[in-house]
Amino acid sequence: MKLLAGNSNLPLARAIASYLDLALTDASVRRFADEEIFVEINENVRGEDVFVIQSTAAPANDNLMELLICVDALRRASAKRITAVLPYFGYARQDRKPGPRTPISAKLVANLITQAGANRVLTMDLHAGQIQGFFDIPTDNLYAAPVMAADIQARFANENLMVVSPDVGGVVRARALSKRLGNVPLAIVDKRRERPGESEVMNIIGDVEGRFCILHDDIIDSGGTLCNAAAALMKAGAVGVVAYISHGVLSGGAAARVQGSALRELVITDSIVATPAVAEASKIRSLTIAPLFGEAIKRIADESSVSSLFD
Ligand code: R5P
Repeated sequence: MKLLAGNSNLPLARAIASYLDLALTDASVRRFADEEIFVEINENVRGEDVFVIQSTAAPANDNLMELLICVDALRRASAKRITAVLPYFGYARQDRKPGPRTPISAKLVANLITQAGANRVLTMDLHAGQIQGFFDIPTDNLYAAPVMAADIQARFANENLMVVSPDVGGVVRARALSKRLGNVPLAIVDKRRERPGESEVMNIIGDVEGRFCILHDDIIDSGGTLCNAAAALMKAGAVGVVAYISHGVLSGGAAARVQGSALRELVITDSIVATPAVAEASKIRSLTIAPLFGEAIKRIADESSVSSLFD
């Protein structure tokens, strides 16, 4: 087995390698003067089971291209099996046509990864589970929920917990977390999005009075959804609100927005490298998913069950 890291999330790739007690494959992924990406693998990979670790977070297009070029280099170097490991799968929110004459970019990205030569995909908390079906190659979708549930139980076990989905689309995900926490009650924020990047809270479905609310979602981007939801929950009588979010996209001024919000804490994972603003934000804490990915990679290489990781 070999692990190859793109440049998008080297700290996570190194942590996964350390979990597996492996060195990262010697390769250079660099730029020509005109910004074209060039990849050179400096060791033999013929007949190897290779895992390419690359989150397609910002700059999404550069990181995606880097992944495609790495996969192409491995295919031409006769790797036996290539798994694209995307702790964060960018473009996932473009999974349907929101209107006429618009693309389904998540499907396009899935096609590109497959056509480049990937034999399988390993990712985590896809925006919608059915995106797995966009790939005609085996795709494993891991869940950060067990890592989050352990953290919640360690810190907030004595609170009057309630899991809250910040929108109707996230109810299945929130229910799964509530189940892991021993079937704590569930509430839903009915959110309407007027324009991309802006959200408006409408109603809260469920009684949050006196509850310590755990908001749970797949992505925090501008922070609008969560910060508005946290304010609405406090207004409705919650005693405190924390958020557990799988992917800290946190673009633009999101970290500052979180700092100034009613959220007591935002907990994300290291699927995306923290920007300096995120790393410095006292309300934002990160949980590592390196052991989760390390274990899944080990099981894929051993041809053993990945789903049993979540039993
Ligand atoms: C959307 O359905 C996602 O699950 C997130 O709620 C959304 O991407 C968060 O975006 P923002 O932080 O910009 O409100």
